[in-house]
Amino acid sequence: MNSRPNSSPPKAAEVIVGADASAAYKAAAQRFVGRAKHAITERGVFSVALSGGSTPKKLFEMLASPAWREEVEWSRVAFFWGDERFVPPDDPKSNYRMAHEALLSKIPADPPKIFRFMTETGSAKNVAIKYESTIRDFFSEKTGVPKFDLMLLGLGTNGHTASLFPHRPILHEHQKLVVSDYVEEVQAERLSMTVPIINNAREIQFLVLGTDKAQILHDILEGPPQPEEWPAQLIAADGGGELIYIVDSDAARLLRKTKNISELSA
Ligand code: 6PG
Repeated sequence: MNSRPNSSPPKAAEVIVGADASAAYKAAAQRFVGRAKHAITERGVFSVALSGGSTPKKLFEMLASPAWREEVEWSRVAFFWGDERFVPPDDPKSNYRMAHEALLSKIPADPPKIFRFMTETGSAKNVAIKYESTIRDFFSEKTGVPKFDLMLLGLGTNGHTASLFPHRPILHEHQKLVVSDYVEEVQAERLSMTVPIINNAREIQFLVLGTDKAQILHDILEGPPQPEEWPAQLIAADGGGELIYIVDSDAARLLRKTKNISELSA
């Protein structure tokens, strides 16, 4: 769904390279804080969709640390998840559980503004339907595409992002904002925001670290367009926002042609 008012082409991705993982985490924390401050000043609330997996855990822990915790007015932050595993909220695989342990349990968040997938309340399909209506209610957006202030994403070595896996029909879902999908590749039921709502965010931010992500990061940014194979190529700042890749030098080591690339000063 093209939600750009003037249908100008999406801004090219900007790649920010940290010398090491901790520099990348710091850059991600700085952008999180900057976006939060701006959103709260402008609209009184900061809406963020957290990513899952292992990479963001250190970012969440950093934001909860004494050095950063006071930078954000946490009671004005609305927390959502870009995707979730279809497991109970206390399951070790739960993205909510990871965020709760690393961040939410350590900051004065406003519980009514923590919107997790209620995975224990029904079938995956119905949980996805309910989550979509939760998002629509929060944004008072019944039919259009809600606009998150910040959409955090990771990148799988197979090119998936959120729970948008290669060759899955949900890659082409442009009506629903949230879907469930049984993913053979990981033999698990997943819940995920879809491309239109991800792409409509004010900032879409990938955090990609480590040598094992170098090949796929190269493929996504500099490889031939093959989004069925590499779904992260479907992610573009279609809603007039920014698409940012925060990476460390290990993940960036195969990049040769990417134009908007900057090295963080040490
Ligand atoms: C998930 C994530 C997923 C993740 C990538 C990268 O639920 O697993 O949303 O998209 O971001 O798989 O995971 P790592 O950070 O563990 O490499």
